[in-house]
Amino acid sequence: MDPTTTTFILLSLLLYGSTTGFSRVFSSESCPFPAIFNFGASNSDTGGFAAAFFQPKPPYGDTFFGMPSGRACDGRLIVDFTAESLDLPFLSSYLNSLATNFSHGANFATVSSTIRLPTADVIPQGQASPFYLSLQCSQFAQFKNRSQIIRRQGGIYASLMPREETFAKALYTFDIGQNDLTQSLFLNMTIVQVIAAIPDIVNHFLDNIKNLYSLGARLFWVYNTRPIGCFPQILTSFPSAKKDSVGCAKPYNRLAQRFNAELKNALARLRIEFPLATIVYVDLYSALYSLYTHPTKNGNKIPKDAILLLFYFNLKFLCANQYDRHKFFFF
Ligand SMILES: *[C@@H]1O[C@H](CO)[C@@H](O)[C@H](O)[C@H]1NC(C)=O
Ligand SMILES: *[C@@H]1O[C@H](CO)[C@@H](O)[C@H](O)[C@H]1NC(C)=O
Ligand SMILES: *[C@@H]1O[C@H](CO)[C@@H](O)[C@H](O)[C@H]1NC(C)=O
Repeated sequence: MDPTTTTFILLSLLLYGSTTGFSRVFSSESCPFPAIFNFGASNSDTGGFAAAFFQPKPPYGDTFFGMPSGRACDGRLIVDFTAESLDLPFLSSYLNSLATNFSHGANFATVSSTIRLPTADVIPQGQASPFYLSLQCSQFAQFKNRSQIIRRQGGIYASLMPREETFAKALYTFDIGQNDLTQSLFLNMTIVQVIAAIPDIVNHFLDNIKNLYSLGARLFWVYNTRPIGCFPQILTSFPSAKKDSVGCAKPYNRLAQRFNAELKNALARLRIEFPLATIVYVDLYSALYSLYTHPTKNGNKIPKDAILLLFYFNLKFLCANQYDRHKFFFF
């Protein structure tokens, strides 16, 4: 896969997007991935936070699952659409101890996770997840070893675990970094201070990718960070920030852009270091930002007061299905 092309296609599909569109990107004929291993935060948590801490309450789960589904979302997440379009089942969370089936992958994401060790207080005292990226990766390392021990033991549990050859062929997806920026801002760090931390955040990200590579991962699919300056929580917390033509807080979006630029450069360096790896940088920022600049083109109406409703447990751009028929979010 050519990374630039893939990014472009994904972007176009998000813009005009439907689930059919997603299937074209991840067509199971051209991309026979046997499994997905996902690392991230609320944007891609399919039950980790719910298993470890508290189950999200309705209307989470409302539009698709009909009940809270362990997602900070009322429908499916991008990672769910990805799994569907690869003809794979939804990913079980690694932390979920009930009725889990890991034969086609596992999800290590939890709501509120960061790349770096969180500096904000962790749950239940605070809001940060203790399962930051390095922990998610060491959980993966354990998972890889223990799942194979269980497979060798045979019986029913063996069928719930991936085959050994799955690990090298699987798609490794990442949607993390947003909370490293926002949690620092809510700890009253200035934008300049957060910008100064970006190289260290990105380095920690790279260390984890390298670690996964050494464990056999080869296909990396990395989402960049979202336009945080459009997030209701940012807009309400920093009301005096300069706005752009669509009402997003400019300096906060520039912060996200800065993170994304450094992430993109770092991944380019990694491609040179690991020629056997496929590393795709996915420009989710641009896709989501275009929902603001061209709301009607994308079939969305975003009433001004929607922002207040969107101010719901940091739940702004979590769901892939908010691009169409998303009743709770007006989209
Ligand atoms: C686990 O999921 C796989 C793939 O969907 C399925 O083939 C297998 O039967 C499942 N195992 C159990 C015990 O449900
Ligand atoms: C996995 O197994 C390898 C080989 O036995 C061992 O070196 C490594 O420490 C194990 N990793 C974990 C996380 O258990
Ligand atoms: C951040 O600053 C605000 C306003 O000065 C203050 O109310 C809040 O307690 C501060 N938060 C932290 C985590 O220091």
